[in-house]
Amino acid sequence: MKLKINRLSTATNDFKTFEFTVSQENLLKALEEIKTNDDPTLTYRCGCKSGVCGSCTVRVNGVEKLACRTNIKEGDLVEPLKNSRVIKDLVVDVSHETLLIKKTNIGIKESASKNISQADVLKIDTQSNCILCNACYSSCPVYEVNKEFLGPFALTKALRYENDLKSQDEEIINSVQANGIWDCTLCSACTFVCPQGIDPKMDIMQLQNISSQKGYTNPYMNNFDNSMGFDSFDSNDFGFNPNGGF
Ligand code: SF4
Ligand code: SF4
Ligand code: FES
Repeated sequence: MKLKINRLSTATNDFKTFEFTVSQENLLKALEEIKTNDDPTLTYRCGCKSGVCGSCTVRVNGVEKLACRTNIKEGDLVEPLKNSRVIKDLVVDVSHETLLIKKTNIGIKESASKNISQADVLKIDTQSNCILCNACYSSCPVYEVNKEFLGPFALTKALRYENDLKSQDEEIINSVQANGIWDCTLCSACTFVCPQGIDPKMDIMQLQNISSQKGYTNPYMNNFDNSMGFDSFDSNDFGFNPNGGF
């Protein structure tokens, strides 16, 4: 079976497509086969080889996948993740993870005297399963244009700590307002590619609800054009005006 791999040429700073013949169906095994038989310089990242460490994520035909958990078919195209600097071949720089997590001000602030029930544990169970694979960042159209955007994983982690009885801290919600929850377009791309079944879009919506309850407002609402069919809030008539602005 033929497998195509896009590799960045440092000389010309553009991608070139290389084609290899492989016998393995599993993508990570196919990459190992290429490295052993065809090109020892092919560079990719892997750790656990069993879907746990999150290090082997690449794009297959444009969709983020864990290489160790993906079976390939004839002619598939493998590329490095988007939205991160390519270090070599399929390896990208993921140091942004640390920066983004630091910005959200999260962590266990009190650990001693809380009684934690099984129900409390379940509240943070899904988000705790993140394996930092970066699939969500690669797929996110907002992160693509704004590297200050906290993005799906960091916001999911913020909700996980917001819901953790041992860490509840006003600073978490405050720290996700700028370049955070209100900048997300709720497009679901991150949810679609998460190999752990986490739903960052839903987590971001939950953070928006919590923020509203705590008195924060969506800064983009100020940009809403009242002439597009809604009366101004200053008007005595508060409802929808079908002729408004026309
Ligand atoms: S839902 Fe939000 S965080 Fe997720 S990919 Fe879309 S814009 Fe990015
Ligand atoms: S939220 Fe999902 S896609 Fe994003 S880093 Fe964590 S495991 Fe990967
Ligand atoms: S090698 Fe660890 S998740 Fe694929």
